[in-house]
Amino acid sequence: MDIIRVEGIAKSYGKHRVHENLSLTIRQGECFTLLGPSGCGKTVLLRLIAGFEIPDGGKISIGGTVVSDPAGGIDISPDSRGLGVVFQDYAVWPHMTVFDNVAYPLKLAKVSRENLKERVMETISMVGMGGLEKRFPSELSGGQQQRVALARALVAKPSLMLLDEPLTNLDANLREEMRFEIKELQRKLNITVFYVTHDQEIALAISDRLAIMDEGGHIRQTGTPWEIFERPEDPFVFNFMGIANFLSVRKAGEDYLVGDGVQRMPWEKPEGDAPEWAAGFRPSDVRLAQNGEGLRGIVRRASFLGAMMDYLIEIDGASLRTSVETHEALTEKLMFQEGETCVVNFRNLLWFDAGSLTEVLKS
Ligand SMILES: Nc1ncnc2c1ncn2[C@@H]1O[C@H](COP(=O)(O)OP(=O)(O)OP(=O)(O)O)[C@@H](O)[C@H]1O
Ligand SMILES: [Mg+2]
Repeated sequence: MDIIRVEGIAKSYGKHRVHENLSLTIRQGECFTLLGPSGCGKTVLLRLIAGFEIPDGGKISIGGTVVSDPAGGIDISPDSRGLGVVFQDYAVWPHMTVFDNVAYPLKLAKVSRENLKERVMETISMVGMGGLEKRFPSELSGGQQQRVALARALVAKPSLMLLDEPLTNLDANLREEMRFEIKELQRKLNITVFYVTHDQEIALAISDRLAIMDEGGHIRQTGTPWEIFERPEDPFVFNFMGIANFLSVRKAGEDYLVGDGVQRMPWEKPEGDAPEWAAGFRPSDVRLAQNGEGLRGIVRRASFLGAMMDYLIEIDGASLRTSVETHEALTEKLMFQEGETCVVNFRNLLWFDAGSLTEVLKS
């Protein structure tokens, strides 16, 4: 069942149009991530769903009830939408202890005293903050404050949580730990999570499904992490999800010519008969060799990155990022020097139409 339905939403600030005809559905019980570059409109969408912003047009339903519909005069208040929300700046109240911060939503809901204490303590311990309930936020680390914000959103036992970049202020180790914890909490409590971030790694790690939004606020693709990473529908998605190489390929008679048109593409051909293509691949999709069949390239830059060797290789005017495990480079004689020639083959290629690539290269 769909728990959130966003249908044809529009939102502008003055002349600045953030969203136009945006639609999205989130299913009951899933962890759904909205992933997109900074400024694309993720927070605006989350605030629209939470009810802190009113759309100019379109409709939002939560659990089958319409909560926003400007044309129909419907605008249900944030408190009545039954959501737990953690905002991007996770503002915990500085003048309140951990206990009082977490208790706040229950006090608002007029939960009885002893019931309140039990639920607050249970939630504090659930986020790993047991024993710290008397501290003030100034006596906590950034990560601990983050947990307080999470506990405050969880204490009212919402069936739906909206989380806006809740891990940005944490260091890399803590971020990694917290993302597993969020995922575990989601499973344990069987809640639906709508998670907003610009961090690809987090999105891949925690999502059941994710949507990729471009700078213009348009959703380019929705799918499982595997579908988004392995089957990107356009070069924007491919480029946004990691280091991406593109090699232009042109049809000439029966042949497919690469780059400037000197070398023939010896293997896999694109489907369809468009005259121009872009072959997309990641650094790890490249297989390097000293000689043999394949495209001839020149190593323009060789960087030792510890576990990996990173080579920038030029093939007929195109510069390509490739990587080889250092161990493999040593055993397979793939320790190239700058200026040396090499042979390039691919483990995997994705074919995009050349027109859609122009847009990505511009941005
Ligand atoms: N209240 C507002 N008034 C005017 N413009 C706004 C307002 N809120 C957001 N915007 C604009 O809307 C656009 C989208 O903002 P939003 O905060 O949703 O981006 P975001 O995707 O969350 O970015 P980030 O990843 O940096 O958090 C931005 O250009 C922003 O300046
Ligand atoms: Mg934001």
